[in-house]
Amino acid sequence: MCGIVGYAGSGSAKKMILSGLKSLEYRGYDSAGIALVRRGKLLVRKESGKLEALEAKVGSESFDASIGIGHTRWATHGAPTRENAHPHLSQDGRIAVVHNGIIENYMELKQDLIENHGVLFLSETDSEVIAQLIGLYYEGDLVAAIRRAVKELRGAYAIAAVCTEEPERIVAFRRDAPMIAALCEEGGLIASDIPALLKYTRDIYLIENGEIVVVTRDAVQIFDEEMTRMHRTRTHIAWDIAAAEKRGYEHFMMKEICEQPGVIRETLLQRLDDKGELALDDLAFTKAEIGAIEHVYIVACGTANHAGRVGKQLLERYAGIPVEVELSSEFRYRNPIVNGRTLVLCISQSGETSDTLEALREAKKRGARVLSIVNVEGSSVARESDFVFYTSAGPEIAVASTKAYTTQLVSLYLIALHFGRIRGTVTRAESGRLIQELKRAPEMIEAVIGKEAEIKAFAKKHYKKEKIYYVGRGSDVASAEEASLKLKEISYINSFAIAAGELKHGTIALITRDVLFFALATQSYLYDKMLSNIEEMKARQAQIIAVAKEGDMRIAEAADEVFFIPDCADEIAPIVEIVFFQLFAYHVAKLRGRDIDQPRNLAKSVTVE
Ligand code: G6P
Repeated sequence: MCGIVGYAGSGSAKKMILSGLKSLEYRGYDSAGIALVRRGKLLVRKESGKLEALEAKVGSESFDASIGIGHTRWATHGAPTRENAHPHLSQDGRIAVVHNGIIENYMELKQDLIENHGVLFLSETDSEVIAQLIGLYYEGDLVAAIRRAVKELRGAYAIAAVCTEEPERIVAFRRDAPMIAALCEEGGLIASDIPALLKYTRDIYLIENGEIVVVTRDAVQIFDEEMTRMHRTRTHIAWDIAAAEKRGYEHFMMKEICEQPGVIRETLLQRLDDKGELALDDLAFTKAEIGAIEHVYIVACGTANHAGRVGKQLLERYAGIPVEVELSSEFRYRNPIVNGRTLVLCISQSGETSDTLEALREAKKRGARVLSIVNVEGSSVARESDFVFYTSAGPEIAVASTKAYTTQLVSLYLIALHFGRIRGTVTRAESGRLIQELKRAPEMIEAVIGKEAEIKAFAKKHYKKEKIYYVGRGSDVASAEEASLKLKEISYINSFAIAAGELKHGTIALITRDVLFFALATQSYLYDKMLSNIEEMKARQAQIIAVAKEGDMRIAEAADEVFFIPDCADEIAPIVEIVFFQLFAYHVAKLRGRDIDQPRNLAKSVTVE
């Protein structure tokens, strides 16, 4: 989604804003723009395409000032053209606004502004309405004009504005879209996401919904909607800038794949005591609360939803609780049956995904307790949940999620075992066995990464295929879905995943000689069934690469090719095998010359519906 950066200080606003926007490229965008205030004038430059185009434009110019706002746009209303890029200006050219989110009632507002106020619109965006409204209400005080304008806006949004008449300050407002601010040696900063500020400071102010922020070179002032001054303590961010940089890797995605053993060790280390027993002190449920849970809904989008599907198997098996996994976008509108004995478990890397946040609110309204597995500290999902379990993945920059997924899986194992121990549905010995297996997961992932040359060879052989499908059974269905999503996201190859038992109910009709199937066969109790499915596909001339555990001799005869993961417990296989699929997708995308870290049309955190 869109990235926002604002700066008011004594240094070069051009430099500060462009470098902040650069750190937010991972959000996904298709045009960029910047507006500076200098000697009573707004200097505005916008370009479609990558930030480099904007940098090239302003780089050689004397275009600079010490205050301004910048934006990377992920198009929702209107094509990604220069005209539709932000900042947008008020008609009199005194106010510039950047916006992240969607204004749902922009059509009515636009019509009113055109018909009753003679406003001329220059773009097709919903965002320009905000600039025009603020312009209409401006009577010498930007804060007052924004407060009046936001009363008329419907939707989820964060905005930042500057005005030629008030050249010392940036005024920002948030409602259901992320916004943070900070004060550093160079001045005051505002941004949509933490990485934009990490180069300057790790102490940030989290802005709450409905708050107005005024940023100047030496102050960040936060007010609620009634203009009561809020006293906010700063939040210290545990990540440093090094964690958000590529550090020699060609792509963030590769760096993040390789970080998985380390971040899984970290997530585990924090939750096991000296004796290697579970110590989930950060999970502040009482035993009675855990015992009283009758039903769990896991609610998440995209990759996080796939983690939830593995989580379902674990929670049902170890904690003995019935679990349903839902897409947040469906759950929030479905009138789900939820009550005080329901636990809604939200999973979100960013903690800002709009559908997941709304699903969470809906669940709370209906009386459910909400536990969230989140990667970004202080994010909206984390703040609004009753209980939070943080994954220690560090910043994930590549749009395609990798290390967030595997740490979400580890978190789900730990939660399932913790609940199971308290509910008496898993013995100490069984939980101990699984923890021992989990502790081996990092080295097993290292072994898969160690076979990168072999994975690259698979990619080289198959990267020109136009159809690559994934089948499995049990937890392997979730892994197949995640594997297929990785490939789709970054290579743009036509791909889907299906439960192997469903093949013969329709999909088998799609099999031709040119289709490549990945057959995931890591679940021992389903192994024979999976072998039969492989035979069925082979009989119809599909090409098959199986993924199985080391030492499996039968599979090699059935499939055309096999990738072996280390021999591990069935429950651990999803964490290990996915790393093979991440690397396969990566190398296919690279051979196809794709933009791996920022695939077309995608955004890292989807803060609009
Ligand atoms: C976007 C990203 C996906 C991610 C999904 C959910 O679609 O491109 O990689 O899985 O959002 O994001 P969340 O931050 O809630 O995990």
